[in-house]
Amino acid sequence: MTAWELAQGVAASSRDDARGPARVRWTSMAGVFVHPYRAYRRLHERHGDTLRVALPSGRRLWLTRDPALIRRALVEEHARLIRPRAVVEDIFAVTVGANIVASNGARWRRKRREGEDHLRATEAGPQLAALEGCARELIADARAQVERARGALDLLPVVERFAATVALRVVAGLPLARTDARFERLGEALALMMRETQRLADVRKRAFLFAAAPRLGARYEARRVRRLRRAVEVVAEVEPDPVRRELLLAAYENPSTTLAWALCFLARRPELITELRAEARAAALLRGPLDLAQLDRLPLANAVARETARLRPPIAYLIREARDELSLGPGLELRAGDQVLIIPWVVHTDPARWPAPERFDPARFLDPDGERGPLLSFGVGPRSCVGARFALRVLTLAIASVALALEWSASPGARAPSPSGRFPWSEKVRCPVRARLAEL
Ligand code: HEM
Repeated sequence: MTAWELAQGVAASSRDDARGPARVRWTSMAGVFVHPYRAYRRLHERHGDTLRVALPSGRRLWLTRDPALIRRALVEEHARLIRPRAVVEDIFAVTVGANIVASNGARWRRKRREGEDHLRATEAGPQLAALEGCARELIADARAQVERARGALDLLPVVERFAATVALRVVAGLPLARTDARFERLGEALALMMRETQRLADVRKRAFLFAAAPRLGARYEARRVRRLRRAVEVVAEVEPDPVRRELLLAAYENPSTTLAWALCFLARRPELITELRAEARAAALLRGPLDLAQLDRLPLANAVARETARLRPPIAYLIREARDELSLGPGLELRAGDQVLIIPWVVHTDPARWPAPERFDPARFLDPDGERGPLLSFGVGPRSCVGARFALRVLTLAIASVALALEWSASPGARAPSPSGRFPWSEKVRCPVRARLAEL
């Protein structure tokens, strides 16, 4: 399935507004510092699918949840609307350098092709065998955790170890056993990177808090960057190739967060876990060597992965900056430096396009004619996620494997998993469960 197919519905459900968007003062955005997702959604509810915000810096921000405009911005005009230099230079320059995510033009095309070729190689041979090994270890790890647990259990460490094994063994192709000291060191470096990237992004977004004490802000930020660089050095020691290193990092963070959310959602739907187990058994999953055709026989596990990515898209925002003047339609004349901001969660929870949008309902992805809005969890267009197919494959396999291994449900009294309001979603997904071993 291509990222474009994933985002199907983008053009179909378009709503054009020839009068041009509402113009909104930046003060209306104050709520985004408290609970960004809800605040952005409220802005759209009040002002329509597209609005223009004049920021104090003089820069203009175009917020949109209009599928037709999203398509124009991310697909048709992708070469003139690029990831903002600030985002790219501040965060990605430290972690991945000028590779796929942070380059444009001929360099990006070359790097992207390298990345695609590398990921294609994971579909067969030793890398597919390595993926199978990761799934078997996931099952063993989850079962060992349950046997050790007294009372409520947190599956997050199991999820994080699985994501680390996939990133290191399948994507980077490093045949590291879990007992290898380098495995632990790398796992820690990856987790540190995830945390520090989040903190750095938070601090940059809240720079205004340091307005009265800029030196303190600069010192805090420099410390974050130093820690991030140290973690990058640890990973670079074992994976010197910059594109493979970028893929390795991307393969750890987002699948790990999404899998953790999936297990949380399922904890409140034990009947789905039973169905997932039946589906995995019928596909004879992990009874012999893994082949990709088996994963096609896991449509429910795949739907759980997509529904989770819809409700908790780990990439919180898609942002682009106009290189020069361009028009995206009537009333949508952008100046150089204007930014277009799309919040996938807001698009995914728009009741005009998704029926009962806040309900966790994987079945909506099982019916080919089901009513669905645009799915932007993996982006759309030429700059969409290069690892989308790979990520869905890994998530489908992991969800089916945990369902084979365990029966679990939410701990009595545990709060339902809900968006914390942090931005982005890459947060520690805490979800205490009660679990027992399933019959293998
Ligand atoms: C649940 C898992 C994942 C999600 C939800 C996700 C989401 C995304 C999104 C939304 C984008 C586009 C951002 C934008 O338009 O600005 C993106 C780009 C990217 N992703 Fe993923 N991703 C996931 C897993 C992966 C994996 C496993 C890899 C690699 C193995 C990967 C590598 C990349 C790269 C290199 C880009 C930049 C593409 C480019 O600029 O051409 N991602 N991802």
